[in-house]
Order: sequence, then structure tokens, then C-alpha cells
Amino acid sequence: MATPGRTQKQIAERYKGNLGYYKKKHPWRVARFVTSFLALAGGIAGIIVYQKLIFQRQVSEEFFSSGKISSQHAKYEQDCAQCHDKNAAMGSDLTLAKFHGVIRDRFHRGIDFSSIDHKCQECHEKNPPFGTAKKYDLHEPNVVDNRSCSICHQEHLGPGPMKPVADLQCASCHNDRGIMEASAKKGATLPADVFHLRAHPPQQIVFEMPRPARGYTQVFRSFADEHPEFQLIQQKARDPDVLRFNHQRHFANDIPPVNGQKLDCNYCHKPEPGGRFYQRVSFAANCQACHALQFDKNNPQLHLPHGDVNLVRTFLRTLPAQYATFARLQDAKTARNGDVRTFVAQQMNQLRAQFGSDDEVERAVFFETDPYKPQRQAPALHRANFAGCAFCHEVKTVKGGPVVTPPVLVDRWMPQAHFNHVKHASVKCDDCHHASQSRETAEVLMPAKANCVTCHSPKGRVVSECITCHTYHAPGQVVTVEMHADASPSFKQMLLGGNER
Ligand code: HEC
Ligand code: HEC
Ligand code: HEC
Ligand code: HEC
Ligand code: HEC
Ligand code: HEC
Ligand code: HEC
Ligand code: HEC
Ligand code: HEC
Ligand code: HEC
Repeated sequence: MATPGRTQKQIAERYKGNLGYYKKKHPWRVARFVTSFLALAGGIAGIIVYQKLIFQRQVSEEFFSSGKISSQHAKYEQDCAQCHDKNAAMGSDLTLAKFHGVIRDRFHRGIDFSSIDHKCQECHEKNPPFGTAKKYDLHEPNVVDNRSCSICHQEHLGPGPMKPVADLQCASCHNDRGIMEASAKKGATLPADVFHLRAHPPQQIVFEMPRPARGYTQVFRSFADEHPEFQLIQQKARDPDVLRFNHQRHFANDIPPVNGQKLDCNYCHKPEPGGRFYQRVSFAANCQACHALQFDKNNPQLHLPHGDVNLVRTFLRTLPAQYATFARLQDAKTARNGDVRTFVAQQMNQLRAQFGSDDEVERAVFFETDPYKPQRQAPALHRANFAGCAFCHEVKTVKGGPVVTPPVLVDRWMPQAHFNHVKHASVKCDDCHHASQSRETAEVLMPAKANCVTCHSPKGRVVSECITCHTYHAPGQVVTVEMHADASPSFKQMLLGGNER
């Protein structure tokens, strides 16, 4: 643009007869060129010198860094080679061909993640979460193309923890029909036992649903809309436990208070340390106060031992001795000097009169729900106290003797997610579990997805990122196979049934 006041013609006048103007050396232009050249060459020289110095460990490598390293890795800040393959681009043997190669790769494929990934993996296999795994497994065995570590865990974004993994990273597979289709196909070619093996302590009982034929390969983007209904709700799973328990009955009016308190959820369900999940229910802590295992109406202070059939049988076969001990204790208390032997004989006789015979005592204790029949009209608590084993248990006869099927009290119902009760303390238990209406053990008292979406959705304004509820890495896959076999083979068979290929 010509400045006002000077016409084009006036400007052209300046170059008249001087058309080689631009070829002539001009002090300003020369200076400009030299400065640019020096800056560039200086930079390169600087890099080379710095490289040498780094090599001799005289200065820090931070100079080249594209940003601060996260705090967990800060100790490697001075040692870039922990993550970067030095010989690819840097190092003492930098050749022209190598340099070309690196530049070409950068333009074509961006940063080469594979060598970095290898470094991440190498170091982390010595550290959790992969440390104990004999075999390295990133997520699921039917993933068709594992993502690079650095796609989800970005470095050089400054000190502090690494950024949490975004939904977008999960959706890059879970919301891609092609990838999920290919994964379903790949899953069909793999043996069933390489799936579903999330690590848990061997003593923990986990309710694992059989993997569906197409695996977990539905296509969806977010929790609030297309995320699948939880499998145990969708398939109307049943609790295979044979322990009889009726939640509803225990909130009825005739249930007596314990220590002045009406029964509530927390009487039986005590949080684990930390509060994330609940402890297993136990007979001694949660039932015995009302179901005391009395068996003789005339001596209600006498209780059967619990938890071991042989112990109960021994107890019943040594009843005279039990009565004798009991009599001595009573005597000490009442300071009455009775004849123990007469007392024992009397009690054995009245017991036989009640039941008919010694064998009948044993049979009734094990196989009858209420061996102490005359108590039908008694108050509820009294009846509860005289319950026999079959009141709560499945009791079978094996080789002539009674066998109690041991209860299977499940510790984790949704192993693929990571729930936390502490964060939901403001919600009523029954809003999620509807336990006070449940009459049968077979009912699985777990909430459906809609229950969670009321809060965990953009509308409910509570975070609903994939990583709020899920983890990504499935550590120790191989280790858990063995753990699981030890833990509860019969229960697993119960659940997996004919599906176990
Ligand atoms: C904990 C691992 C780690 C350490 C240590 C580390 N980096 Fe990186 N660096 C990465 C990753 C991963 C990338 C890939 C891109 C990203 O995530 O930012 C990267 C990318 C880079 C890039 C840009 C991309 C490229 O490769 O051209 C430079 C430059 C870089 N790093 C230099 C350094 C220097 C210099 C150091 C040492 C001071 C260093 N890094 C230490 C992990 C690391
Ligand atoms: C030389 C060893 C080493 C290398 C290489 C390494 N890490 Fe780490 N990383 C660690 C250690 C140690 C921790 C801290 C672990 C801990 O405290 O349990 C850590 C922590 C992490 C964490 C948790 C950090 C947080 O802020 O929550 C992530 C994620 C991680 N590394 C990913 C990577 C990725 C991705 C790479 C490759 C770019 C990588 N690491 C390379 C040793 C390494
Ligand atoms: C590279 C592709 C890929 C990425 C990325 C990915 N997934 Fe998956 N995911 C799969 C495949 C394939 C399955 C199906 C497994 C099967 O069929 O049993 C799956 C299954 C799952 C399951 C159910 C199976 C189980 O045992 O838990 C959960 C939960 C899950 N992914 C969560 C996530 C989360 C959270 C992220 C993001 C941090 C994520 N996925 C990222 C491929 C991927
Ligand atoms: C007297 C003891 C007792 C009380 C009180 C009690 N429960 Fe239970 N609960 C059990 C027993 C025993 C089981 C295991 C047997 C079963 O599955 O029914 C169980 C199982 C559960 C389960 C596991 C899921 C399932 O289907 O097995 C949930 C959830 C549960 N109870 C919630 C509650 C809630 C909520 C309350 C309060 C409204 C409550 N319980 C009150 C004894 C109790
Ligand atoms: C606060 C006292 C109390 C506690 C604690 C208690 N119960 Fe009961 N339970 C009762 C009473 C009372 C009845 C009714 C007895 C009757 O009607 O004969 C009963 C009935 C039952 C019944 C029969 C249910 C039905 O549908 O008829 C079973 C089975 C049972 N309880 C199991 C258990 C188990 C298992 C526990 C421990 C996890 C337990 N109870 C804890 C008081 C209690
Ligand atoms: C009021 C219900 C109730 C009655 C009555 C009852 N039990 Fe139990 N029993 C339980 C509960 C609940 C468990 C599981 C929790 C535990 O082990 O404490 C259990 C567990 C057991 C176990 C498994 C223990 C283990 O370690 O795996 C055996 C065996 C057993 N009971 C035997 C008996 C025998 C024998 C009787 C009769 C004398 C009896 N029970 C009466 C509720 C009852
Ligand atoms: C926001 C819904 C929600 C609320 C509120 C809630 N729970 Fe749960 N609860 C769950 C979920 C989801 C699970 C399944 C967790 C698992 O085992 O993977 C569960 C599991 C359980 C279990 C089975 C054992 C376990 O820890 O996994 C018991 C028992 C239980 N809850 C009792 C309670 C009691 C008692 C309360 C009230 C104090 C309560 N819950 C409140 C959602 C809820
Ligand atoms: C509010 C909690 C929550 C959020 C947020 C969430 N999920 Fe889930 N998801 C669950 C629960 C609970 C299950 C059932 C787990 C079980 O049955 O063991 C589940 C099951 C799954 C399954 C198995 C599905 C099937 O077919 O049974 C996959 C895959 C999955 N989630 C992936 C994701 C992905 C990807 C995201 C992010 C877009 C996500 N989830 C967000 C709670 C959540
Ligand atoms: C009444 C609202 C409400 C309902 C219903 C609800 N949540 Fe939450 N949930 C929350 C809040 C609030 C948090 C805490 C969020 C935070 O820490 O930023 C939370 C946190 C969580 C977390 C993260 C726990 C952690 O360790 O940080 C999980 C997992 C979760 N919810 C799963 C569920 C599941 C599964 C359901 C359905 C069974 C459910 N929630 C139902 C309000 C709810
Ligand atoms: C699809 C995304 C994704 C990829 C790819 C991925 N991670 Fe992760 N990573 C996660 C998420 C989500 C978590 C959070 C906790 C979890 O899921 O176990 C995590 C957690 C971690 C942790 C911290 C574990 C802890 O217990 O605190 C380390 C270390 C880690 N990843 C290393 C790696 C390495 C090494 C690679 C590559 C071999 C990798 N990750 C690839 C998503 C990913």
C-alpha cells in the first residue's frame, strides 16, 4: 500500500535505472541475514554442545524438555532416557541417516510412542499395578489394538499428578462399532478362562456372571444414555445361596428389640474398614441374640454349639456330661447342694419323654425347623430361640449322617465396577437395595442403572466419567486364575453352570 501523498509513479521514480537494486549488497540486509544465520547455527551448535555436556553429565537435560514432568516421575526429570530412547534421536552416535529417519517419522506418524511405551512398561512391570503379574495384560484379552500408554497418560503437562483419563479415551473403543465388532469376533476365538479374572483376595467371594456370548461389546458413549443395564439386573440373576433369610420378616412388629434397639440394616451389615463395602454377615454377631439354638424347654440356658455338625453331634452324644456341667454351674450360683447324678438322670428322662428317644433328639435338632413344638403359641422371640438347624439351613442326609450345606455369603456383587458406600451415606439404604420388602434369599438386592443415573448424569450433576466407576488395567490376570480355583470352585460352578467351556 502506498502511503498517502506519494503516488505509484513517484515511488517507481526511485528505482529508475536501478533495477538491479535487490542484487546489490546493502548493509542492513547483510546484517539481517548474518543475524538470522548466527541464531540458527548458534542454536544447532548449542544443541550439539549441550548434548556433549549432557553426555558428560555436566548440565541438565531439562533444557530440551517440552514441559515439566508429573510429580510421580519427577525423580526422572534429569534422566530423560528413562522414557525416551536416547539412541533414536540423541546420543553420541547421531548420524545423518538417523536424523533423517527421525524427522521423517515425526512428520509422518507424529511422535514414536512405541519406544516410549516399551520404557513405561519395562519400569512399571517392576512396580504396581503390573508388578505381580506374570503376564502383562492391559485391559481385556480380546482388545484388537491396545492403545499407547501416552494417549491416556500424558506427560510434560506440568508438575502435580497426571491428568485423569478422559471418557474420550474409553469411547475411542467402546463407542466404535467396527472395533467392538472385531473384539466380539476375537473374543469368540479365545478360551473362556482368560476373561473375568479381576484380582481379589482368595477368601473373598465374588458374584461373577458368565460372560455373554458376544462379550461386553455393546456400543455406547456415556453412562447416562446407552451404557448397558447392569448384567445381574438385565439377566434377573438369582442368589444361589441356600441359607434361608427373610429381610421383610425381620422388620415386622413382633421382632423384639436387641439392647433396646429395633433391628436396622446396620445391626447385621457392618461397614468394612474404610467403609467402601460391607462385611460378611455372621451367625454369632447377627443371629445368635435371637436364634440362640436352645433345644430343651426345661433348660433354656443350654445352647447347642454352632457352625460344625460334628461338634453338635458330639454335644448331643455327651448330653449327660453337658447336663452335669450345667448342674454344677447352677449349683455354684444358687449355692444349693443338689445331687448332680439325680439331676442328670431326670433331665435325660424328660428329654426322651419330649422327643421319644435319643436318636429322635438328634434328628429333630438337625432336620426340624422348630423341634420344640409346644412353643407354637409362645411369643416370636421364644420360638426363634428354639429354632433347629433346618430353620436356616439346607440339611441333607449323607451316609446316614446329617450334612449342612454351607452358606455362600457373597462379598462383591459387581466386580466390574468399583462402588463406594461412603460417598453415598446421604442416600437411604433401601433407595438402592429395597431390602425391607424382600422375602427370599434368592432375590438379588442390587440397584439398577436408572437408580444411579438420577445423580450420575449431566442432569443429576454428579460426575459420570467412566473412571468414576471403573478401572482400566486388569492386573494379575494369570495369578487370579489359581486364586479363584482355590476360593470357591463349587460356587463358581453353581454360577457358571453349563457355560464353563
Ligand atoms: C516419565 C517419562 C518421560 C520422561 C522422564 C521424559 N519424557 Fe519427554 N515425553 C514423554 C512422553 C510420553 C512424550 C510423548 C508426548 C507427551 O505425552 O507429551 C514425551 C515427549 C517429549 C518431547 C516432544 C515430542 C518428541 O519426542 O519430539 C520432547 C522434546 C521431550 N519429551 C523431551 C524430554 C526431555 C528433554 C526429557 C528430560 C528432561 C524428557 N522428555 C523426559 C515422556 C517422558
Ligand atoms: C523408570 C521407571 C518409570 C518409568 C520409565 C515410567 N514410570 Fe510411571 N511411575 C513410576 C513410579 C515409581 C511411579 C510412582 C508409583 C507409585 O507411587 O506407586 C509412577 C507412577 C505412574 C502413574 C501414576 C501417576 C499419577 O499421577 O497418578 C502413571 C499413570 C504412570 N506412572 C504412567 C507411566 C507412563 C505412561 C510411562 C511412560 C511414558 C511411565 N509411567 C514411565 C516409574 C516409572
Ligand atoms: C483399545 C480398546 C479399548 C479401550 C481404549 C477401552 N476399552 Fe474397555 N473394553 C474393550 C473391549 C474389547 C471390551 C470387551 C471385553 C469382553 O468382551 O469381555 C471391554 C470391556 C470393558 C468393561 C467390561 C469388562 C470387564 O471385565 O470389566 C469395562 C468396565 C470397560 N471395558 C471399561 C473401560 C474404561 C473405563 C475404559 C477407559 C479408561 C476403557 N474400557 C477403554 C476395549 C477397550
Ligand atoms: C437380621 C440381619 C439382617 C438385617 C437387619 C438386614 N440384613 Fe441384609 N442380609 C442379611 C443376610 C443374612 C444376607 C445374606 C442372605 C441373603 O442374600 O438374603 C443379607 C444380604 C443383603 C444384601 C446383599 C444382596 C443379596 O441379595 O444378598 C444387601 C444389599 C442387604 N442385605 C441389604 C440390607 C438392607 C438395606 C437392610 C436394611 C433395610 C438389611 N439388609 C437388613 C441379614 C440382614
Ligand atoms: C432381633 C432378633 C432376631 C435376629 C437378630 C435375627 N432373627 Fe431371625 N427371626 C426372629 C424372629 C422373632 C423370627 C420369627 C420366628 C417365628 O415366627 O417362629 C425370625 C424368623 C427367622 C426365620 C424364618 C423366616 C420366615 O419367613 O418364617 C429365619 C430363616 C431367620 N429368622 C433367620 C435369621 C438369620 C439367618 C439371622 C441372622 C443373620 C436372624 N434370623 C437374625 C428374630 C431375629
Ligand atoms: C438362625 C439361623 C441359623 C440357624 C438356626 C443355624 N445356623 Fe448355621 N449358619 C447361619 C449363618 C447366618 C451362617 C453363615 C455365617 C457364619 O458362618 O457365621 C451359618 C453357617 C453355618 C455353617 C458353615 C460354617 C462355615 O464355617 O462355613 C455350618 C456348618 C452351620 N452353620 C451349621 C449349623 C448347624 C449344625 C445348626 C444347628 C445346630 C445351625 N447351623 C443353625 C445361620 C444359622
Ligand atoms: C447409591 C446406592 C446404594 C446405597 C445408598 C447403598 N448401597 Fe449397598 N450396594 C450398592 C451397590 C452398587 C452394591 C454392590 C457393590 C459390589 O459388591 O460390587 C452394594 C452392596 C451392598 C452389600 C453387599 C456387600 C458389599 O459390600 O458389596 C450390602 C450388604 C449393602 N450394599 C448394604 C448397604 C447398606 C446397609 C446401606 C445403607 C447404610 C447401603 N448398602 C446403601 C449400592 C448402594
Ligand atoms: C455411575 C457408575 C458408572 C459409570 C459412570 C460407568 N459405568 Fe460402566 N458399569 C457400572 C456398573 C455398576 C456396571 C456393572 C458391573 C458388574 O456387573 O460387575 C457397569 C458395566 C459396564 C460394562 C459391562 C457391560 C455389560 O454388558 O454388562 C462396560 C463395558 C462398562 N460398564 C463400560 C463403561 C464405560 C466405557 C463408561 C464410560 C462411558 C462407563 N462404563 C461408565 C457403572 C458405571
Ligand atoms: C443421590 C445421588 C446419587 C446416587 C443415586 C448415586 N450416586 Fe454415586 N455418587 C454420588 C455423589 C455425590 C458422589 C461423589 C462424587 C464426588 O466425589 O465428586 C458419588 C460417587 C460415586 C462413585 C465414586 C466413588 C469414589 O470412590 O470416589 C461411584 C463408583 C459411584 N458414585 C457409583 C454409583 C452407582 C453404581 C450408583 C447406582 C447404584 C450411584 N453411584 C448412585 C451421588 C449418587
Ligand atoms: C485407555 C486408556 C489407558 C491406557 C492406554 C493405559 N492406561 Fe494406565 N490407567 C488408565 C486409567 C483409567 C487408570 C486409573 C486406574 C485404573 O484404571 O487402574 C490408569 C492407571 C495407571 C497407573 C496407576 C495405577 C495405580 O494403581 O495408581 C499406571 C502406573 C498406569 N496406568 C500405567 C500405564 C502404562 C504403563 C500403560 C501402557 C502400557 C497404560 N497405563 C495404558 C488408563 C489407561
